[in-house]
Amino acid sequence: VTKRFVCRVADIPRNGMRECKADGGFKVLVANAGDSYFAYQAMCPHQEVPLCEGLYDGERLTCHQHLWQWDIRTGSPLGFAEAPLQYFDVQIEDGAIYIAPPSPLNLTELFIGISRSTLAELNKVAQREEHEAGTTLYHPGDPAEDLYVVDGGRVEFLIGREGHTSPAGFVLRQGEVFGWAALLDKQSTRIAKATCLEKSSLLRMSGQDVLKILQKDPASGFVVMSRLSLLIMRHLRHQA
Ligand code: FES
Repeated sequence: VTKRFVCRVADIPRNGMRECKADGGFKVLVANAGDSYFAYQAMCPHQEVPLCEGLYDGERLTCHQHLWQWDIRTGSPLGFAEAPLQYFDVQIEDGAIYIAPPSPLNLTELFIGISRSTLAELNKVAQREEHEAGTTLYHPGDPAEDLYVVDGGRVEFLIGREGHTSPAGFVLRQGEVFGWAALLDKQSTRIAKATCLEKSSLLRMSGQDVLKILQKDPASGFVVMSRLSLLIMRHLRHQA
């Protein structure tokens, strides 16, 4: 996958930001912080508001609409912001700024804010799979070995116990994670049923591989485990 030209370094004010159109037409927000440049999604993840209309002090980006804030170095949400920013890897060559298209794992809430090198290792162990509509990936009670990220399509997720599931499930879409029991314990079993509602493209990773990678980078491991606990709480709340 090839890099895309975004703008010249000189186009971005020092400790400032600008919305730019990358080759291929899509918009990105480019920000400067000291010696570094960062590129993010152009629109606020809350509503359709351009982030370039917000405030930026060289460290912290604020959407003017409802004051969500992000750390410009990681895209992690600060304060009451509920979603991270999608970032693009930036390359600088001869005064020009290029971005690499994001890998699907970069879009995954579980992995936002972890180190780029750990993310690269996770990308290496992720296997892409395509499944037809109606395919059930697992049932409650099955061994929980793999973690999945939805890259396309829709997956229905029903929490249950001993072969039974509740009638009300929810639908997971691009960037969402399921199968997280694979990260909890070597011997764990599925507590949900996961079924593709339409033809779906998934990234599958062995839970043990993911844990091994995270053990080498405990700071990133902590981010993933904190996000995982929030995700589980959200699923359980939905269930209540
Ligand atoms: S639209 Fe940006 S914070 Fe609400």
